[in-house]
Amino acid sequence: MCGIFGYIGPSAAAPLLISGLRRLEYRGYDSAGIAVINGDLDIYKKVGMVKELENILPATVKGNIGIAHTRWATHGGVTDANSHPHASEDGKVALVHNGIIENANALRNQLRKRGIVLKSETDSEVLVHMINLEYQSGAAPLTAVRRTLRRARGTWGICVIFLEHEKIICARNGSPLVIGIGEKETFIASDPHALTSHTQKVIYLEDGELAVLTAGDVKTSRNSGKIVDPTIHILDDDWGESELGDYPHYMIKEIHEQPDALRQCITGRINLSDGTGRLGGLRLSPKKLQAIPHVRLIACGTALNAALVGRLLIEKLARVPSLAHVASEFRYNDPVIDAKGLYFVVSQSGETADTLSAVKEIQTKGGTVMGVINVVGSSIARQCGAGAYIHSGPEQAVASTKAFTNMVAALTLFAIQIGRSRTLSRQNGRALVKGLREIPEQMGKYLSNQGPIMEAVEIIKEAKSVLFLGRGISSPVAREGALKLMELAYIPCLAYPSGEMKHGPIALLEEGSPVVVICPNDELKPKVLSAIHECKARGAKIILICEEGDEIAAEADVSICVPNTDPLLSPMLTVLPLQLIAYHTALELGLNVDRPRNLAKSVTVE
Ligand code: G6P
Repeated sequence: MCGIFGYIGPSAAAPLLISGLRRLEYRGYDSAGIAVINGDLDIYKKVGMVKELENILPATVKGNIGIAHTRWATHGGVTDANSHPHASEDGKVALVHNGIIENANALRNQLRKRGIVLKSETDSEVLVHMINLEYQSGAAPLTAVRRTLRRARGTWGICVIFLEHEKIICARNGSPLVIGIGEKETFIASDPHALTSHTQKVIYLEDGELAVLTAGDVKTSRNSGKIVDPTIHILDDDWGESELGDYPHYMIKEIHEQPDALRQCITGRINLSDGTGRLGGLRLSPKKLQAIPHVRLIACGTALNAALVGRLLIEKLARVPSLAHVASEFRYNDPVIDAKGLYFVVSQSGETADTLSAVKEIQTKGGTVMGVINVVGSSIARQCGAGAYIHSGPEQAVASTKAFTNMVAALTLFAIQIGRSRTLSRQNGRALVKGLREIPEQMGKYLSNQGPIMEAVEIIKEAKSVLFLGRGISSPVAREGALKLMELAYIPCLAYPSGEMKHGPIALLEEGSPVVVICPNDELKPKVLSAIHECKARGAKIILICEEGDEIAAEADVSICVPNTDPLLSPMLTVLPLQLIAYHTALELGLNVDRPRNLAKSVTVE
């Protein structure tokens, strides 16, 4: 989603801004722009990729102060005019904004009454005119920004430059901004990954804070005016891992990284002799775990599918009532929060606005919420204050893969941990943690011999729609398979618990309709087999994901087998062929697998 990068220091800003934007590209965007102080305030913006913006940049953009933006349209279409930066009418102030200004219409009307002509349809543009009005009336840059934000409602991460001042003013409310401190130079970005090639020293701006950046110096304050003493954090330089290397796309690279990523997630978190998992960051003793009356998991997209697997595991292994919730619904349904309950939010980016809102809602109502997060130091991780990092390493493809399997692994560890504080025996706990330890190798084994993926793709690629079926623990895996294929290949996909298929989706089946069935060797297999027969009787083509050596393979048109494991651990293996089917279908259709249309990696608006 929208990305921000800014620079002030001795070097030429434009090339740094472009390389900063490139590092933000993976988030998904539809246009890009930069503003540089270069005698005048030079602004260049363009619909399309960063390289298209680069193509229109003249060599004469020489200034040392600049701000840059990648836009993912929310208010107003994908046009050059709606791209950021936006400038004041006199061209003396420029701004980039992430987030949504909810009272933009009212502010827009007020500006029009004062004779100001707005050039875009965006909510963001109102801010730059308001700031300029304050500035023209004599306010200093920081004061002008502060006064404007007091009148704005909504969320923002903004950076503002003034032609007549050598500084960048930034402010955050709900949209992340990270300041990078270099030698006599200062950076700002919406995502710490954009900073790691320049500096490891960062300050995370908090909600309600503003910062004045000069070359090598930062002053932070609250919106009230109170000065804040910022904490400097040192970033891990993990960006190297995210280079493409020999792979043609990030998605396939990340699919193949799953065995190693999973090892990272579970290393040091398994206690084999006690047959338990140990997520130290939760800071929950067995006594505390024993007292938890219920668990709720909240997430969006792929993370929600992982949460759905997690909730089944927790209920099964610990006999604790457990539910998963769609984050965007959670807050607005005025949920009852039980202070004794345990709430988890699950998120790869740690920046998803819907999930962050759920965290705040739970905390406001006195609940305990912990993060299951990939990005270290992200907004959700910091807001929760406790939780478990999933350690997938940087995930760049918009469609999540290695984060899914690691979220499932982390939640499996938790389910075993809470299970052992209750009814799960040492023997059963040991069997599970042993099984979990083997999964990375089994993933590697499957990935080196993937089975007839392309036969499945042949059946799927021209289909009007695809039905995904699974039961029990495989029901959320079916959802994940459908989500992946829909995101990447733009084929309408439906995921259903296989027993529910006869109550609706069966109406869609006709000769040749593809049905993808996930069926590990568990006690529900006979029931799933009935659903397969019901589909075949209507002419459907069955693509089956099953376990090696299982005779059920003979029931399908295409069978893709994964290594044998405990059924409760099977999602980490059965999801692999589904990721590959989505990837190869999108490639066959000539689509952009890493950046599917309209989607964003990190959705920072509600
Ligand atoms: C977006 C992405 C999905 C992702 C979801 C939740 O919709 O396109 O791939 O699963 O956000 O993201 P999170 O970072 O919270 O896991």
